[in-house]
Amino acid sequence: MEVVACIDQSSPAATMDMNVVRAAVATQGYSARFEKFDGSGVGDDPYSEKNFHKLTSSRCQLVLGFPVDVQAPLLPTGVKGSAPYGQTGFALVTRDHAPPELSQLAEGTEVAVAYETAPNLFFEHHTNIQSDVHPDNDDALDALAKGKVKAAMLWAPIVVQYTQRHAKGHKLFFALLNEPHARWDLVALYDDSGVAAAEVFDKGVGELRASGRLAALLAPYAVVGDRPTASAVKPANVVSRNEYNRGGLIKVSNTKKKSGAKAPAIYSAEQASAGQQVFMSNCSMCHGADLGGITGPALKGQKFASAKDDFAVSDIFGILSTQMPAGRPGTLKPEEYAAVMAFILQQNGYPAGPNALTYAQAQTSKVPLISSSK
Ligand code: HEC
Repeated sequence: MEVVACIDQSSPAATMDMNVVRAAVATQGYSARFEKFDGSGVGDDPYSEKNFHKLTSSRCQLVLGFPVDVQAPLLPTGVKGSAPYGQTGFALVTRDHAPPELSQLAEGTEVAVAYETAPNLFFEHHTNIQSDVHPDNDDALDALAKGKVKAAMLWAPIVVQYTQRHAKGHKLFFALLNEPHARWDLVALYDDSGVAAAEVFDKGVGELRASGRLAALLAPYAVVGDRPTASAVKPANVVSRNEYNRGGLIKVSNTKKKSGAKAPAIYSAEQASAGQQVFMSNCSMCHGADLGGITGPALKGQKFASAKDDFAVSDIFGILSTQMPAGRPGTLKPEEYAAVMAFILQQNGYPAGPNALTYAQAQTSKVPLISSSK
């Protein structure tokens, strides 16, 4: 009997994934066969629901290569995840010595990150470090290897792959970060057609874990993790390889909508009109003068901020203040970022009040961002 697994070739840990599947199903008396696909093509997201079901219905019982955020596990409808078989995530990488905690890096240390990956958000909580944004992971790693920056925050398996390819180059040290949304579970994804195979896989992983073989199969890309294998992950928030490479914007929030609550007035009308000018000169070319979206996504309405997106003002402000305007992130003045946030709030139906929104308030505001405009 055979388990067929789709493996994302663009994942640096593709071989590890195959080894785990092969070993896990073998413990249950099954053999494994692999179908390879490339999850890296820009604009061709294999993880869209439609493409996912195409993979499973035509070929595979299990799909590997799409980790889930430990803190926000949400899968698209109809897609389930196995129990986590390993854990990895975003790591702090340094050149000459084992990485300290983020908070121990010297004041003003520049830290390289890849454009629009989760670590862009970590600067918000660590004012001692400054972001040095690169178009992709390799570019950020090169900057570190050449000593242009002292540290980087990147997807750990990519760092492993880089150090293997550049074995003779400068030694890099890395450790997984303990930041919100830095830790990711490795899971096998499946739909209704893969339930039986997933059961075989889960049982097998449980045996590998119990016998101590799992850690060796995962090394050096991932670790066993401290979470039990018993329960399958809840529906999860998944980032495709595609998004690691391009850098996925990871939407971060713990704030729950309080239904029926009236939107609070957290900015002033004057500030929103100043924000409109900032927007027209710096943002409208990509997001549209009416915020309807052009090359950048809409910043107004249900597509942008519906209750189920579960955004707080600080989440979206974190993105816009550290990653926007795309191409030259972080180049506006703090008061311009606050003003443009005020304008976005106004356009999404929030009332103006007596006080302007400060940069510091926007950074920490847990006010839910739920648009009341269409
Ligand atoms: C060169 C084009 C460009 C410019 C200029 C630009 N953006 Fe963006 N923006 C993007 C793209 C593309 C994305 C989506 C990135 C992704 O999802 O990977 C984005 C995403 C965003 C998001 C996150 C939206 C969401 O739903 O997650 C916000 C907020 C945002 N931009 C605000 C702004 C603001 C405010 C400005 C001006 C200060 C600005 N952008 C300027 C292209 C641009």
